[in-house]
Amino acid sequence: MFLSKRKIRTFTLLFSILTFTTLLFSYTFRDPSLYGFFKSSFRNNRLCACHQQCMMKLEDNPWFTERFNQSIHPLMTSDNSVLSNETFRWWQGLQLETEPADFNEVKKELFRFIPSETLYMDASPKRCRTCAVVGNSGNLKGSRYGLRIDTNDFIIRMNQAPTRGFEEDVGWRTTHHVMYPESATDLDNTTTLVLVPFKTLDLQWLVSALSTGTITETYMPVKSRIKANKDKVLIYNPTFMKYIFDSWLEGHGRYPSTGFLSIMFAIHICDEVSVFGFGADQYGNWHHYWEENDLAGAHKDTQVHDGDYEYNVTCLLADKHKIHMFKSR
Ligand SMILES: *[C@@H]1O[C@H](CO)[C@@H](O)[C@H](O)[C@H]1NC(C)=O
Ligand SMILES: *[C@@H]1O[C@H](CO)[C@@H](O)[C@H](O)[C@H]1NC(C)=O
Ligand SMILES: *[C@@H]1O[C@H](CO)[C@@H](O)[C@H](O)[C@H]1NC(C)=O
Ligand SMILES: *[C@@H]1O[C@H](CO)[C@@H](O)[C@H](O)[C@H]1NC(C)=O
Repeated sequence: MFLSKRKIRTFTLLFSILTFTTLLFSYTFRDPSLYGFFKSSFRNNRLCACHQQCMMKLEDNPWFTERFNQSIHPLMTSDNSVLSNETFRWWQGLQLETEPADFNEVKKELFRFIPSETLYMDASPKRCRTCAVVGNSGNLKGSRYGLRIDTNDFIIRMNQAPTRGFEEDVGWRTTHHVMYPESATDLDNTTTLVLVPFKTLDLQWLVSALSTGTITETYMPVKSRIKANKDKVLIYNPTFMKYIFDSWLEGHGRYPSTGFLSIMFAIHICDEVSVFGFGADQYGNWHHYWEENDLAGAHKDTQVHDGDYEYNVTCLLADKHKIHMFKSR
């Protein structure tokens, strides 16, 4: 058989390409992380392993990337809890205390009492963490979202958020319950308590409420004891709170609401976020799902939060496909 030089060259080139691709594929499949990376990045610029959506994408929306900063840890640990002077001054001004205790002493005491671990900062092409943030809006009433909410890995609720008697609409499970002393409620021991501290006393209250019960009031009477698993307590990081206020709310309101802080917590630790129970019900009423409508309007704005601005940002996140908003139906 006669082969021209050109044919031989073409043949050699094809053969090399074939060998290279075979090698690449065998390596890729042998190393699951590499495989996961290729699979996820080829599929729609994915930086996580979820099928539907990823919080982070290779090419992202500028509105989102200008605000999103993954290097600020949402939770306080004994290692990251040094606040800058600016943050400390801002945080201490939120709910003025007449004689605040020494913050560093309180912190030391706190992390002797609860664990200090760095959690959830493990975003990777192999991770798919789905989260539901369940607000307390009356628009959940009759929604029958319960089963859909319960399919998520994390189910984050806030403040009172009762589930018993409302399961079909709000779900059965709670993995994280976000609260502050004045909004505290009892939890079962599989639920993680996420304390949002607005003052030094709140950190002292947590230790007290899970041990001696000596603190009975802040600026108002509070529960002196709560039921919760002390090995599953997390503390919302004031540095993260200030970042949310500056970057995401651009200084609107005096400080972010628990609802907004919960959504922000989720978008920084989850790959896929579904938001339920935010906003008014279909008649434009603002009330809680466990209350009757006659309290309409009572909860929309307290003077410290800019509820409209927060809701706008939440809707923008939905527009940019960063969260999935479930509205009343
Ligand atoms: C994110 O936050 C860190 C710590 O505050 C800061 O050093 C960094 O510049 C920020 N990154 C962006 C992109 O804003
Ligand atoms: C922060 O405050 C402390 C004590 O008030 C002071 O000693 C320190 O110099 C301040 N740091 C900066 C960077 O301003
Ligand atoms: C959680 O509570 C159940 C019953 O209420 C109890 O049997 C179990 O030992 C508790 N678990 C922990 C870790 O405290
Ligand atoms: C919310 O967004 C709408 C439309 O983009 C705008 O007209 C309105 O002023 C915004 N509200 C606030 C409180 O920012």
